[in-house]
Amino acid sequence: MSSSRSFNCARGPSSFPRSEALFARASRAIVGGVNSPSRSYTPVGGSAPLFMEYGRGGYLYDVDGNRYIDYLAAFGALILGHGHPRIAAAVAAQASRGTVFGTCQPLEAEVAERLKQAIPGLELMRFTASGTEAVMSAIRVARGYTGRSKIVKFIGSYHGHSDLVLVAAGSGSSTFGLEDSAGLPPSLKAEVIAIPWNDFATLEATMAAHGDQVAAILFEPIVGNFGIVPPAPGFLPAVAAAARRHGALLIADEVITAFRFRYGAVYPLFDINPAPDLITLGKIIGGGLPIGVYGGRREVMEQVTPLGPVYQNGTWAGNPLSLAAAAACLDTLREENPYPRLDQFAAQLEEGLLDAARKAGIPVQVNRVGGGFTLFFSERPVRNFADTEASDSRLFGLFFQEMLHRGILLPPSKYEAWFVQTPHTEADIEYTLAAARQAFAALPPGESQ
Ligand SMILES: Cc1ncc(COP(=O)(O)O)c(C=O)c1O
Repeated sequence: MSSSRSFNCARGPSSFPRSEALFARASRAIVGGVNSPSRSYTPVGGSAPLFMEYGRGGYLYDVDGNRYIDYLAAFGALILGHGHPRIAAAVAAQASRGTVFGTCQPLEAEVAERLKQAIPGLELMRFTASGTEAVMSAIRVARGYTGRSKIVKFIGSYHGHSDLVLVAAGSGSSTFGLEDSAGLPPSLKAEVIAIPWNDFATLEATMAAHGDQVAAILFEPIVGNFGIVPPAPGFLPAVAAAARRHGALLIADEVITAFRFRYGAVYPLFDINPAPDLITLGKIIGGGLPIGVYGGRREVMEQVTPLGPVYQNGTWAGNPLSLAAAAACLDTLREENPYPRLDQFAAQLEEGLLDAARKAGIPVQVNRVGGGFTLFFSERPVRNFADTEASDSRLFGLFFQEMLHRGILLPPSKYEAWFVQTPHTEADIEYTLAAARQAFAALPPGESQ
């Protein structure tokens, strides 16, 4: 980082006075003071979540004048950093021409064509306003198409906050010690069969027992919601084969993964043939604005109204502002192909973190794919949700705080992933590793399992 870095390293109750004042104010009107519980962590030496003033490139700047290298990347929504000039210009131009029309407009097909070109199997699609809506709608389509009601999902995989997929949802709810959520009727929970990721035997046994009632198997091709956990070799072909054998559809939830590791979806990397029946997208494709997409096989998607009987609607679906940002983001990624560089920076981080942890005597694991990875405080490899659960939360929390105080914003939970962004520099990576060496050295040794 440059020498002009203005991060305030002082600890103590007055380190974040403006965040604290804003949090007190927000808490009087907003439940818990936050609009997403994942944001409600508190830095040591403060008593409120951080409030950010603005972002620029790979950095976030809080309201107390501190700068952070941003590896949170808005929980994976960003890859080109904050305030990317091309996206900002596209959004500004569209804003002055109107932000929502309640009618069709040309950008819808423009962006849909880009996605269709990039993702095999995405024959017909619909835009939504969020990943949650995309997955919720895809499940409805699968149920409508098959006439079946049950869904198989993987324990700890998060697919948004619609009722059905909150069962065994990992990520945010696990951070708060919740298995799922209050308010889910038992009859609804009975429709979800949650099985361990990378467990071939349970997959086969589950489908043998219930396959004829299963509308779809829902999966993240590379898990991003109990940390980055790739599929074991052959696991996704086995998932696909089990679905086909029992007449269930395959829904690939690529809300985190698409355009994160390569231009397009990641499912083609895993020998899934034919393509998943339905694919869901979100996060990166919106260029930093709200978006979701569900789509897939023509015959399946033709179930959606007005062509078919499966209903889905949305005031904000396909809004011009999000689509202007989406087009600018997708074009930038296609033209610049930042993926090799993101991979190289993340590899440097992986190597440096492992080295620093080893020198400090702290057992850790890094699961990395391209520019995204998770650092687990664990002695054993992490292959499923139970492994993530067993990793050391306390050491994670202490490390997170040590890094935050050195001006590095990591995802605030052991269930999330670090994402390198395109504006990050060699100097940022070096600074991060220097901070990590200090952070590991400051941790109490011998507490990890
Ligand atoms: C795999 C996956 N699916 C769906 C969602 C929900 O997306 P959104 O937060 O846009 O509703 C998320 C969000 O983290 C996700 O990671």
